[in-house]
Amino acid sequence: MPEKANLIIGDQTYELPMLVGTENEKAIDISKLRSLSGCITFDPGFGNTGACQSAITYLDGEKGILRYRGIPIEQIAEKSTFLETAYLLIYGHLPSQTQLTKFSQSFSDHASIHEDMKNFFNGYPLSGHPMGILSAMVCSLSGYYPELVNPGPTKEDIDKIVVQLLSKVRTICAFSYKKSIGESFVYPRPELQYIPNFLHMMFSTPKREYNIDDDVVDALRILLILHADHEQNCSTSTVRLVGSSLANLFASIAAGICALWGPLHGGANQEVIEMLQMIQKDGGNIAKYINMAKDHNSNFRLMGFGHRVYKNFDPRAKIIKETAHNLLKKKGIKDPFLDLAVKLEEIALKDSYFVERKLYPNVDFYSGIIYRAIGIPLNMFPVMFAIGRMPGWIAHWKEMIEDPATKIGRPRQIYTGELRHDYIPMDQRPK
Ligand code: SDX
Repeated sequence: MPEKANLIIGDQTYELPMLVGTENEKAIDISKLRSLSGCITFDPGFGNTGACQSAITYLDGEKGILRYRGIPIEQIAEKSTFLETAYLLIYGHLPSQTQLTKFSQSFSDHASIHEDMKNFFNGYPLSGHPMGILSAMVCSLSGYYPELVNPGPTKEDIDKIVVQLLSKVRTICAFSYKKSIGESFVYPRPELQYIPNFLHMMFSTPKREYNIDDDVVDALRILLILHADHEQNCSTSTVRLVGSSLANLFASIAAGICALWGPLHGGANQEVIEMLQMIQKDGGNIAKYINMAKDHNSNFRLMGFGHRVYKNFDPRAKIIKETAHNLLKKKGIKDPFLDLAVKLEEIALKDSYFVERKLYPNVDFYSGIIYRAIGIPLNMFPVMFAIGRMPGWIAHWKEMIEDPATKIGRPRQIYTGELRHDYIPMDQRPK
């Protein structure tokens, strides 16, 4: 029988039930606290608050553990494909060969976007960030599938949206890149697999077919798998909160893309490279930037370092660092930013400021090195994170919408404004 928690407020003691998770994490169920005691809890940033129960991803920040549906991320990154990982996260189990073949084939059939959507790209200013375009385009997809946006979608409806979103996200991203460089759109080829088709749409031209490089495909496979889910992070919590109002999956994902755009979240992979560029331009003066990162008045943070949950190493960062080294070595690429990043990590991890605060490289610290090696432009790095995170967002939205206990998300607050006072007519207000 799970333990109980006794909360003493003044001369009252309130007994609260507790929840215990599969990995023995414990939670105090405060869902009745306000009606029992008139009090609410206060936890800005929700660092101590569970918003839901979920069976999708488990992570232990102290031990650097990350598992998708119980399978260690290291094994998935080594053995799985991005589509198989997406299936595992969304449907809860590894697919049979028949299920995977059918799932994969559906992506080939639905990779193209409606011809009218091309007009959207013509309206966007070239200065528009690809994350803004992606969010707008994903939300606009709902207009082409009105039958899929009604509240209470059937299982078949959700299966259709899953394929539309996961398949078309590549096309939208590649088209936004082509538009930004003034090249004509390159359409998906149905015979190509998920990642090769994306690379084809990004880098082929009417005159020259992109030469699909297996090492590049494998590096992207690892990156997309490692970004696929991360339990209740900022953008996934956003998708769940928007979806809790019965907003459709297209709208919920569009909101998640906007949350991911932030430099403290998915935008960090772009910020890391911009930070390395700044350090390189400044003569590689790493000590200066380490000291700035430690000085809270400098407003400078070591981007790609630190994590709300991982207070040990981020298991994804270790794999990405190794993948970056392997790809650059295989391709004979010398990227000074990789050497700079390695040096920065070594110095930071010997500095008590970072060690005491348990700040380690996170998923964003080395990923940009790989994107650079592939030729993906800097402002599309967060877009690559979004492509990877799509299965996780979808899996959490689906889990939330299928949970009968789900209610519309509506946190409380502690009011700190003015006490009651009357309206002040204009002629009585201070000049
Ligand atoms: C992602 O949640 C997820 O799962 C996210 C993610 C996912 O897969 O979805 O893993 C992806 O978003 C990774 C994080 C990418 N962001 C960055 O790399 C931006 C740089 N990092 C930080 O801004 C910060 O570490 C956060 C935002 C990631 C975490 O912030 P927290 O947990 O709220 O930490 P904090 O701000 O409370 O900092 C604690 C202390 C503070 O110092 P003190 O007030 O104790 O003296 O650590 C310091 C902070 O100033 N600190 C840093 C730092 N990160 C924290 N100091 C310098 N450089 C940093 N990067």
